[in-house]
Amino acid sequence: MQRKHIFNAGPAALPQEVLREVQDNLLNYDGSGMSILEMSHRSQSFQSIIDDAEASLRRLLKIPARYRVLFLQGGATLQFAGIPLNLMKTGQAGYVISGNFAKKAWQEAQKYGEAHVLASTEQLNFAQLPTLADIEGAAALQPLDYVYMCLNNTIFGTAFYELPYLGNTPLVADVSSCFLSAPFDIERFDLLYAGAQKNAGPAGVTIVIVRDELIAKGAARADICPSYMNYHIQAQQGSLYNTPNTFGIYVAGLVFRWIEQFGGLEAIAAHNRAKARALYDFLDSSPCFYGTAEKNSRSWMNVTFRAQDDALEAAVLAGADAAGIVGIRGHRLVGGMRASLYNAVSMESVQALINYLKSFE
Ligand SMILES: Cc1ncc(COP(=O)(O)O)c(C=O)c1O
Repeated sequence: MQRKHIFNAGPAALPQEVLREVQDNLLNYDGSGMSILEMSHRSQSFQSIIDDAEASLRRLLKIPARYRVLFLQGGATLQFAGIPLNLMKTGQAGYVISGNFAKKAWQEAQKYGEAHVLASTEQLNFAQLPTLADIEGAAALQPLDYVYMCLNNTIFGTAFYELPYLGNTPLVADVSSCFLSAPFDIERFDLLYAGAQKNAGPAGVTIVIVRDELIAKGAARADICPSYMNYHIQAQQGSLYNTPNTFGIYVAGLVFRWIEQFGGLEAIAAHNRAKARALYDFLDSSPCFYGTAEKNSRSWMNVTFRAQDDALEAAVLAGADAAGIVGIRGHRLVGGMRASLYNAVSMESVQALINYLKSFE
């Protein structure tokens, strides 16, 4: 098989070593005489799989013992609803609207309480981020149950690499498209979550890391919170309140181990930074293409760009396909092009993309 250069935004490229291991073990998991796909989630074998996945993730991110790790389903989108149901104790939260997914989370939260907009860059078409000073200033105006941010805006190619200081107000973050791309200081967050389908595994698993104290008393709106989304119940049951995505958790565990073998998050961060720098450097010097995100707001994970003459973009996309490059069509909300440079995308693939764009130029 001639493997493509995969720049999909999610589901996205997975490490080939992981795909091969899945293939090798698919029919007979660890000599058990059955496939992981056939195994009970209550079996000892699966318990070891989920325990190993959690242990590997804890090593990678240096997750303190007072944080719980949950492996849930429903994608990031279910978290948009689950977070207010769990955390809106007084019915007041602050949302930073830095992109489409943050806006969706804010819209969902309005069903359950007052979701204040602390800062928004929608007027700027989300090409840049709100400033930390604006977020901090607005958050200080009233007591809030939490402040919600999306750290990497997958559609617009912007990312926060610094966090606001919020005093005692809990910080909640959607890190779906930058999870495990670099070291994170977990203690700066009270809850963070990520859909796995970018850097952490296949679609269908959402990883939640939450400070125990925040959920120890149960969901703030336990009266209406579905039991599935009650973090307290999920934590008590070790993510096995109901049948979890067993296969997805297995693959995510293999991806975590692959990152450890790669050298951990510092090594992954260096690899990601080098890829992003190569592509941005090319775009900044190109007479034909340009990056759409404001320079200080640029994401290393999702590089959004356009052709100076947008009538050429259909030809750019068609030619990419013929060159074995897939997934560079921009999100339907913004058009143009986007290359997602997640962990499993190699420098060789990025170079192939740059060479293709140069030849097009
Ligand atoms: C940052 C971010 N948040 C949320 C979502 C929505 O994720 P899901 O489709 O898993 O609900 C996405 C999807 O791409 C995303 O990139």
